[in-house]
Amino acid sequence: MCGIIGIIGKSEAAPRLLESLRRLEYRGYDSAGIAVVTPNGTQRRRAEGKIRNLETVITDEPITGTVGIGHTRWATHGAPSVRNAHPHTSGAVTLVHNGIIENFAELKAELIAAGHEFTSDTDTEVIAHLLDATLKTGASIKDAFKDVLDRLHGAYALAILIEGENELMLGARRGSPLVIGWGEGEMFLGSDALAVGPFTNRVSYLEEGDWVIVTRTDADVYDHKGFRVNRPATTVPTSAALVEKGAFRHFMEKEVHEQPESCQRTLSAYLDPVAKSVRADIKASIDFKDITRLQIIACGTAYYAGCIAKYAFEKIAGLPVDVEVASEFRYRTPAMTAGSLAMAVSQSGETADTLAALRWCAGEGLKTAALVNVHTSTMAREADILWPTHAGPEIGVASTKAFTAQLSALLSLVVCAAVQRGKIDAAQEAHYVQLLLETPGLISQALVMDSELSKVAAIDLSKSSDVIYLGRGAMFPLALEGALKLKEISYIHAEGYAAGELKHGPIALIDEKTPVVVIAPDDELFEKTASNVQEVAARGGRVIMITCVPEKVPALSGDAAKSLKIIKGPACDPFIAPIIYSVPIQLLAYHTAVHKGTDVDQPRNLAKSVTVE
Ligand code: F6R
Repeated sequence: MCGIIGIIGKSEAAPRLLESLRRLEYRGYDSAGIAVVTPNGTQRRRAEGKIRNLETVITDEPITGTVGIGHTRWATHGAPSVRNAHPHTSGAVTLVHNGIIENFAELKAELIAAGHEFTSDTDTEVIAHLLDATLKTGASIKDAFKDVLDRLHGAYALAILIEGENELMLGARRGSPLVIGWGEGEMFLGSDALAVGPFTNRVSYLEEGDWVIVTRTDADVYDHKGFRVNRPATTVPTSAALVEKGAFRHFMEKEVHEQPESCQRTLSAYLDPVAKSVRADIKASIDFKDITRLQIIACGTAYYAGCIAKYAFEKIAGLPVDVEVASEFRYRTPAMTAGSLAMAVSQSGETADTLAALRWCAGEGLKTAALVNVHTSTMAREADILWPTHAGPEIGVASTKAFTAQLSALLSLVVCAAVQRGKIDAAQEAHYVQLLLETPGLISQALVMDSELSKVAAIDLSKSSDVIYLGRGAMFPLALEGALKLKEISYIHAEGYAAGELKHGPIALIDEKTPVVVIAPDDELFEKTASNVQEVAARGGRVIMITCVPEKVPALSGDAAKSLKIIKGPACDPFIAPIIYSVPIQLLAYHTAVHKGTDVDQPRNLAKSVTVE
């Protein structure tokens, strides 16, 4: 949720901390701050809002030293303000934190009773006070740190400086990831590999409950019991190019346009293009014959990917599927049946609710799978089966290429399940595989709709205060995803409905001011969706219909004809239509936000990777 960087470096820390924070800004942008070990002690600079505000503060009041920590915040406890911006400090301790300390109120009361004065409204500040107080008892840094960690309930990733220990950093991870970066004569801590990416590509991932004492040349890692452990360094492949915008205006635009490649990469991991079959290693990872029911758990866009997959799993593989938002699933004591497979779908692999739901399923004795884009994430490491997506780093807060990569992987697994459950033969397997292999080319064709969608966004959507999205079958969850995408980046109220539900209530919303986006591929439900278009147009509604078969849309007469805009997409089989039709949906939201002038990559109140409940 928040971004963390720590550096014991050889050159000036402040510009390096800022460089890393700019890369981490997608994780939160309510406020930011750094602390640097200077000849006059550890000093802080903090600012409300984005990293550029912090840059101004540092330009006005420079800070010199080669060791420091930095943080970009997504507020949980305490409003976004300078006073609540990290780093927080107490006596000798200065620290940054990602996560939530659930027992902070109790700890704070105890510390206040002991005479501590707090300067922020955050939960984080209690950790600084607690550690400082423990150090003052004469405990060693190692013992004091362990004692404090044992008293914290909740989630944390921490990077900590101690006054007087000028080449030392402490780190800890529980619930929120933390990596150690290994440089040449310098060391780093980061909330993910991207944080330390500008300085090194050699990282060690801390395990749940680990804590670490980092010096200039080494890192001593301990597990939650206090035993020394080895967390080997791995080389991360992420190239700098993947996290730069290049010629695009926004990361979201770049990521939408990357989808031919990101889907291709993902499909290549699941499908054998020569044998026209699901790859042998994927078939070996699971036997869907033994699975009685699939429970998909996810949040937001990943949840909609799961909802779309349900249609295909049930229709083609005959596998019963339940899909539920993880925040509900985890607290409602679901009745699970033996033989169920629990599958978490997640870009980050760290979303707190999805992770908790997955752990709950594991605790119930279910087999678990994680379909995740970050292959080193907690879900990836904890699930019995890892099904990776290969979208590459997704920086735009609104998920796009991760979504279509999820669909690519899920639909490949549908084919796997259908084969293993004896629902399709080799020829049909080859047919579905071929359809999936055609998606990268079709996505490229869909991207050609860009300028037309930009015009529609400017004329029809950007001035509206409400938009309705309609779809049937797998296009219903895509309509929900379209509405989510629009509201999160353009702040326009949008709702998705199953087109058949329209007359059960939502049709009352139809008027000339409310555009209705209809997603209508050439499938068995097309005629029914087209009838819904008639119903909307007959009531004065403005329809934007995205379809590859405009010739099949019944002609409208009079004013109704004028209120219908058809945008032609590439012809595609209904099996892969959710992937292809994602593109116009994403572009509509993107261009609407650009025309409105909102912050596309960092929409208000949001952050990538929701690692708190
Ligand atoms: C919307 C969006 C979110 C995420 C959700 C789950 O564009 O990005 O709805 O899909 O927060 O995140 P992950 O996939 O990381 O579990």
